[in-house]
Amino acid sequence: MSENPVAKITIEGNEYEYPVIVGSENEKAIDVRKLRKDTGYITFDDGYGNTGSCTSDITFIDGEKGILRYRGVPIEQLAQKSTFLCSAYLIIYGKLPNETELNAFRSKVANASRLHVDFKHHFEGFPPKAHPMAVLSGMLNSLGCYYPEMSSNNREQDLELFDDAAALLISKVRTIAAATYRMSQGLPFIYPRKDLRYVENFLHMMFTEPYDQYTAPKEVSDALDLFLLLHADHEQNCSTSTVRMVASGGANMFASVSSGVCALWGPLHGGANAAVIKMLQEIHDSGDDGSKFIRAAKDGKARLMGFGHRVYKNYDPRAKIFGAAAERVLKALGRSDPLLDIAHHLEQAALQDDYFVERKLYPNVDFYSGIVLKAIGIPVDMFTVMFAIGRMPGWIANWKEIAENSRKIHRPRQIYTGQNERNYVPMEERP
Ligand code: CMC
Repeated sequence: MSENPVAKITIEGNEYEYPVIVGSENEKAIDVRKLRKDTGYITFDDGYGNTGSCTSDITFIDGEKGILRYRGVPIEQLAQKSTFLCSAYLIIYGKLPNETELNAFRSKVANASRLHVDFKHHFEGFPPKAHPMAVLSGMLNSLGCYYPEMSSNNREQDLELFDDAAALLISKVRTIAAATYRMSQGLPFIYPRKDLRYVENFLHMMFTEPYDQYTAPKEVSDALDLFLLLHADHEQNCSTSTVRMVASGGANMFASVSSGVCALWGPLHGGANAAVIKMLQEIHDSGDDGSKFIRAAKDGKARLMGFGHRVYKNYDPRAKIFGAAAERVLKALGRSDPLLDIAHHLEQAALQDDYFVERKLYPNVDFYSGIVLKAIGIPVDMFTVMFAIGRMPGWIANWKEIAENSRKIHRPRQIYTGQNERNYVPMEERP
């Protein structure tokens, strides 16, 4: 990162100069860290669309060009040549692992897949209809309680045990997710198997019955691995920023990623993948081919879920990759899905419509991911949990970046617009 020319700001007739920071991909920012001290002013940026909250070495996105790279490696190459665990290693450690490193990482993850037997009591404490995202968040925080040495909130100590904690979280988030599903269905928990690879093991814990071993077809495990890989990191999105915010106060990794799950849950963020399927199903059930829905979206009466992105003003590259995967997996499984036809129709209609073109609204990763998850048998309520499993490496890498580098607690300011000072009114005098 090199220093560049200065930016000049004139306030009330006084001129101030601020340095320009330039990132490794030539992204530029005005460094206003001294602004308030110099001028008494702060910047105001509701929604943070123009605010860089950090410098980061992990993920690069160029939303105008539709570029996404993990540690410099284009998502298209990773999708074609890598696996989720290999990409997770890349995201967390900053380099592609050699064979020995990858095997060691895989075994660490495989060896950590079991849950402490007492964990069943935590599951029993939730009502059967609890949303899996609520359960997941609670469970990830509880998990830290079983490993107090890794969740000490003493940065040096938490960092010393980072490798173990990272592998443990990547492994157990999948065990917890599967157990959550089994609990919601009143089904017995299925133990993990060390001989199975990451995704196969998850599908085994989801779908095996004590009397009937489930073996995932290759197309299914490949599609799920790709789904996880495509979700593994996405720079300073809502949930990752939340993880960094919580981490900035010194909280351990378990607590920080647990808060990330809560942030991810909302329909404008990770919850969109479930919202897309619900939307497509409603369109289908109403006998519409998508045209009426597009009109409603343009009139502001509906939102086309799976469309639009704060950063991408071009195709989300993940949507392109996953759109093709949806076709492949349905074909391989010998299934057709009328929702895929509606999705195609919506996509074509929206891409030619002035409303969407002018606002640069393109399909995002969630537009096709629900169709793939549905095809491989994942229930809709679990879709956002799947996103959380995928995003775990990104959250972990971002936690590490904060823990290793940041000395400052994240604490934005505000412009207060409430009442000016007024006296307390006793109860008997209130209107
Ligand atoms: N359908 C219809 N209109 C939309 C949509 C949409 N999906 N998205 C944005 N717009 C319109 C919006 O009404 C506004 O119009 P106007 O300028 O006339 O007021 C304009 O486009 C700008 O919208 P915005 O809400 O200011 O844009 P944003 O950058 O704040 O929001 C977004 C980004 C992703 C929250 C939004 O596009 C959205 O709600 N999309 C649907 C939900 C979705 O698919 N979310 C998943 C995002 S990808 C996964 C992830 O990373 O979390």
